[in-house]
Amino acid sequence: MKTIIHNIGTLAGILPADTRKLEGSWMNHVECLNDAYLVIEDGVIAAFGKADGNSENLTADEYIDANGGFVMPCFCDSHTHIVYAGCRDGEFRDKIAGLSYEEIAARGGGILNSADLLHATSEDELYMQAMERVNEIMAKGTGAVEIKSGYGLTVEDELKMLRVIRRIKETTPLTVKANFLGAHAVGRAYRGRQSEYVDLVCDEMLPAVAREGLADYVDVFCDAGFFTVEETAKILKKAAEYGIRPKIHANELEVSGGVQVGVEYDALSVDHLEKTTDEEIEVLRGSGTMPTMLPGCSFFLGIPFGNAKGYIEAGLPVALASDYNPGSSPSGDMRFVMALGCIRMRLTPEQSFNACTINSAYAMGVSDILGSITVGKKANLIITKPVPSLAFIPYSHQTPFIEKVILNR
Ligand code: NIG
Ligand code: FE
Repeated sequence: MKTIIHNIGTLAGILPADTRKLEGSWMNHVECLNDAYLVIEDGVIAAFGKADGNSENLTADEYIDANGGFVMPCFCDSHTHIVYAGCRDGEFRDKIAGLSYEEIAARGGGILNSADLLHATSEDELYMQAMERVNEIMAKGTGAVEIKSGYGLTVEDELKMLRVIRRIKETTPLTVKANFLGAHAVGRAYRGRQSEYVDLVCDEMLPAVAREGLADYVDVFCDAGFFTVEETAKILKKAAEYGIRPKIHANELEVSGGVQVGVEYDALSVDHLEKTTDEEIEVLRGSGTMPTMLPGCSFFLGIPFGNAKGYIEAGLPVALASDYNPGSSPSGDMRFVMALGCIRMRLTPEQSFNACTINSAYAMGVSDILGSITVGKKANLIITKPVPSLAFIPYSHQTPFIEKVILNR
């Protein structure tokens, strides 16, 4: 099957085939081509170039008129908890009344509340509920998504969640990566016995997850009131025995040591980083670990935004992701994430664009096949309405900007 997109006003996000991420000052540039065409063959970008007399004579099975709009790579959302049951709108009221995320969790709400709901929900029903959100993010331009478990907190329920994630992988055109987050919180049955719960994660959950091949990555909520650096190291060490690479939660609530332990275990990404010191920047320098920030969580919880600008000025790469979850970020709108990157983190539109495409593709291990306009990469593309500039996308952040989303498996 061959498709030609013609009449492209601006083709944005062109990168060489060997670029896996953009660091420091490289983040401030988005390579564009005006008046362009792009050819898709069997789901892959086969060619693109400046429209001229020759390109108008190209033949294909399907022709798409971009009507002068931008064509850009789909967003890659490298951190979500999109599989969950019900919602936590009751806690929303508590939050408005002034309770913090930690206070809600300490009352037995928060993640444990979602675990109770998930336990009472069948696998089929969970899949149906998750698919509503999956369809929502696809329509908003997400072409690849990482999805975590972590609302099961028992062997059976963690497996149930991961099977739902596998089913999403198999039944949608999205590129999906599954992340096992058994250490999201201590399951209710283990209250007061945290170290025994960590043993359960290491000795029962991880082997079962590995046996069924259900996880691409492993995660730990390494933060104040959740899991310690030592517990995190224990879990990551065990996961390494199964060849499962970490992507972890660190420094949301406190400077937790999570960045350091993540880098030590060669994490693909360390995520959140609302709290940070110069030490984290130094530890990340030269590592293969992508610092990932989640501005939707900062926005919703009213906590500080990560210091993305400082990281980039220090020469590091930064990725942005939605953290779509029922407790701290009930939205998977990556365009809004891109806008928050600009409006609240003071990134330039180019920096924010790269953080939501090539760098977030890296943070979920898919930047060899997604995240840029590159011949040979999957043609997961957004065709925009005829917007005046790249900056317009985050600037006019509530104006519908998507004309069409093209997703190829
Ligand atoms: O990334 N911080 C830990 N996990 C999620 C929130 C999960 C929840 O509250 O349900 C997060 O913000
Ligand atoms: Fe999260």
